[in-house]
Amino acid sequence: MDLALLVVVSLLIGALIILVALAVGRQKDGQSEKVEENKAAGSVGDGSAKATSSKKLKHQQRPRKEKAQQHTFSHALLAAALKGHSGSITCLDFSSNGKYLASCSDDRTVRIWSTKDFLDRDHKCLRANVELDHATLVRFSPDSRAFITWLANGDTVRIFKMTKKEDGTFNFTAAAEDFPQKHKGIVINIGIAETGKFIMTASVDTTILIWDLKGEVLASINTNQMTNSYAAISPCGRFVAACGFTPDVKVWEVCFSKSGEFKEVTRAFDLKGHSAGICSFDFSNDSRRMATVSKDGTWKLWDTDVEYKKQQDPYLLRTVPCPVSEGSRIALSPDGRVVAVSSGQDVAMYNATSGELEEQFHCVHGDNITDLKFDINNRFLVCSGDRVIRVFHNATGYRAAVQDMQAMLKKTSNEGVKQRLRQQLEDAQKALDAVLTAQKH
Ligand SMILES: *[C@@H]1O[C@H](CO)[C@@H](O)[C@H](O)[C@H]1NC(C)=O
Ligand SMILES: *[C@@H]1O[C@H](CO)[C@@H](O)[C@H](O)[C@H]1NC(C)=O
Ligand SMILES: *[C@@H]1O[C@H](CO)[C@@H](O)[C@H](O)[C@H]1NC(C)=O
Ligand SMILES: *[C@@H]1O[C@H](CO)[C@@H](O)[C@H](O)[C@H]1NC(C)=O
Ligand SMILES: *[C@@H]1O[C@H](CO)[C@@H](O)[C@H](O)[C@H]1NC(C)=O
Repeated sequence: MDLALLVVVSLLIGALIILVALAVGRQKDGQSEKVEENKAAGSVGDGSAKATSSKKLKHQQRPRKEKAQQHTFSHALLAAALKGHSGSITCLDFSSNGKYLASCSDDRTVRIWSTKDFLDRDHKCLRANVELDHATLVRFSPDSRAFITWLANGDTVRIFKMTKKEDGTFNFTAAAEDFPQKHKGIVINIGIAETGKFIMTASVDTTILIWDLKGEVLASINTNQMTNSYAAISPCGRFVAACGFTPDVKVWEVCFSKSGEFKEVTRAFDLKGHSAGICSFDFSNDSRRMATVSKDGTWKLWDTDVEYKKQQDPYLLRTVPCPVSEGSRIALSPDGRVVAVSSGQDVAMYNATSGELEEQFHCVHGDNITDLKFDINNRFLVCSGDRVIRVFHNATGYRAAVQDMQAMLKKTSNEGVKQRLRQQLEDAQKALDAVLTAQKH
């Protein structure tokens, strides 16, 4: 028993020390970060060269000096800053195999980053050009071998295939034809069901379209919420949910027959409890929990593992006050244990179980945060809001490790083990404190 305990503790401490060391190592890289940022900003020449808006031209003609004043951000828990885009990033998506992060920007490119090298010094990315347009949204296909984009000017979906080359990189090929134009309002989100059965597009004007993968519209949903602020497919691929001006999230089931034919879209359940419009929501990876953030200044956690056909309603688990702005985003970690909320340029992380505020990151980006996501392994939180993607370590995870050691200390009665635990705990706490205070310098 005590031996097993010791092994667990050593493992925990080992992991903690590695993480802390990495975080501190990153911290020291702060200087070179600025240099790289300038380099990235200087190489505007490629994709965005065609952008001819006078604003952009003026920006490009500005002397270098001004570019050096670009937004800088450092924090002990910052694991990486992914640089490459020369325009504002609007959307991020992790592939379901956990290997890639996709980002899109008004620089007319989609970039594919490897999650494997997030902790390395350099972050290579592969570039897919969005010819004669740019993508505002990007989502990986369930098999991680294609991605779909929403075209800003084309006002429709374009599919890109990713063909693996011998050197391990990809060729990106756009499908021969884009989807037909169907939306009248600005499109706020798109998605592909993990089942591969349908694509969803949602516009601000209360319309959600369900498409097959070839671009045929299967169904159109009117959300009746005055405006849509966010919509998404559940990770299980069964539900589509939307929120907007009204204080509830509406959830529909997209039904298919046993043979895979589309049948119908039916109302499933609502999340009712907020007192003002809802900015966004997110699902846990098993679709059994949802988190919502509202203009009423709170986030809520819901148990959505209900039999709605038997009139069971989702169960409100927690309400926590938090800073909220017009475009606030919420992300629920895949395991449902951590909630992250953005407000303006800031991000706050909460323990989903206790509601406790765990971390606050201020002025993470030069502009308001556009997207916020956890990676599928609960290791990183990523966000966008300017030309750089910020990747954060799982701070909550460090604390959980310390908490676990404290709990073990309470349980054990063996004096020898206790003494060792105390020493290890002290060391771990010191290391954690060092990381957390490093941010102040
Ligand atoms: C990738 O694209 C290049 C140039 O278009 C082409 O020559 C090559 O055959 C493609 N490779 C694969 C694996 O599709
Ligand atoms: C969800 O994530 C947890 C932990 O990260 C993992 O163990 C589990 O297999 C995932 N479940 C699904 C349905 O992907
Ligand atoms: C950014 O967010 C703040 C609130 O935090 C808001 O007042 C402001 O209008 C937003 N700016 C843009 C450009 O959306
Ligand atoms: C951090 O780690 C804990 C414990 O491993 C996990 O429950 C949580 O979801 C993780 N959080 C993030 C932000 O990845
Ligand atoms: C969240 O809080 C609960 C209850 O206080 C605690 O047991 C758990 O370890 C915390 N989780 C994390 C990831 O810190």
